[in-house]
Amino acid sequence: MPQEKVPVQWKISSTENMKSVEQVGVAFAKPEHAHSVHVDVADLEPGTEYYYQFEAAGHQSPVGRTKTAPAPDDNPEEFTFAFASCQAWDNGFYTAYDYMAADELDLIIHLGDYIYEYGIGPNGGDRNVSVPPVYRSETETLDRYRLQYGLYKSDPNLRAAHASAPWLVTRDDHEVDNNWAGDVPQDPDKQTRNTFLKRRVAAFKAYYEHMPFRMAQMPDGSSQKLYRNFTFGDLAEFNVLDTRQYRTDQACDDAFSVVGCSERFDEDRTILGDAQEQWLVNNLKASSATWDVIANQVPMASMDFEEGPEEGYRMDQWDGYVADRNTVLDAFEQHVRNPVVVTGDFHTNIANNIKKDFENPDSATVGTEFIGTSISSGGNGVEMDDFGRQVLSENENVKYYNNQRGYLRCTLTPTQWRTDYRVVDYVTRPSASIRTDASFVIDDGAPVIQSL
Ligand SMILES: [Fe+2]
Repeated sequence: MPQEKVPVQWKISSTENMKSVEQVGVAFAKPEHAHSVHVDVADLEPGTEYYYQFEAAGHQSPVGRTKTAPAPDDNPEEFTFAFASCQAWDNGFYTAYDYMAADELDLIIHLGDYIYEYGIGPNGGDRNVSVPPVYRSETETLDRYRLQYGLYKSDPNLRAAHASAPWLVTRDDHEVDNNWAGDVPQDPDKQTRNTFLKRRVAAFKAYYEHMPFRMAQMPDGSSQKLYRNFTFGDLAEFNVLDTRQYRTDQACDDAFSVVGCSERFDEDRTILGDAQEQWLVNNLKASSATWDVIANQVPMASMDFEEGPEEGYRMDQWDGYVADRNTVLDAFEQHVRNPVVVTGDFHTNIANNIKKDFENPDSATVGTEFIGTSISSGGNGVEMDDFGRQVLSENENVKYYNNQRGYLRCTLTPTQWRTDYRVVDYVTRPSASIRTDASFVIDDGAPVIQSL
């Protein structure tokens, strides 16, 4: 694109053929924003399907579908959303998104690792296509992050999913740097705090430019307000979290399974930061929704990853931030009718009951957690493996495990929640078929996962 601003006409229609125009306007695609445009459209009808299209320099975009949220005092009979995470472009094809796009959803949630910061090899990894040398380096500069988003968004299935439904996104670590925590990078011996904060500015800016954000989510330098709250009538309320930007650095040298780490219990450790934690507790107290959903990055329920009698916990997830988890679980127990956590990060499908006291499997179940697998990260995968058998045998609260790629689809009604684990046979070639590997339900008023 030339270094000049380009007028972009946007159009909203109530019909897919774009003939019944409801609103029209012009936004300017500016070089300082990578020629992206973000339009906050107001005055639409609640609970209504709309279609939209852009036109610039004589070119028309494909038509996108969206759907507005039901009004707060509305009583929806059904609400269906899908969620996904972790899409390393060079680990495989985004076939799962093609099926998601066909589901005509009310909402799609992305829980992070939309891009990975790693350089891309000359043959595009498992995609086996030629990728220019400019993609070889790790993403550290604004230009390089922008290129990565461009490459990822060249996938037609991902674009089809974006065009099929409204998206709600939040960020995990790889949009910036593996396992970053607040102002601490993965490898503080190689990146100073200042260097890392500059990298954060670039990463946040490119993320905003390439995602369907409202203007309130425009970053201010190295900070970006990502935690936010949405209601869908009286049926569901979603709290979208940011568990990276405000967290304390991982405890006990940040390993996958640490035995005997007492630091993780420290009261001054935080994964949410004080402001977000207070905001979340207040929302949970005030909510009268049937289903209170936490859209969250890293696993919340406790999981022991050490084989045998010793117990080992992963420092990058809520197990490394026990004080904050206790605060949230107290709020679940005292104030929330049906708390359901939906989680990314883990690259495997898991279904968890969340126990009030993680050391006592007989303690009360205070919520449920559905951990969704990756779209492509990790490659084809298998239904069951040694790690899965171990996780199931070491953890009574883990009710299901599968290590294939795909997405989760959740259907909410006033009386029941249903989750379908959708998996594709492979991702290293395109066009795999999809199937539902398992389905679970939760009955209103009883926060326990039941097999269907
Ligand atoms: Fe990931």
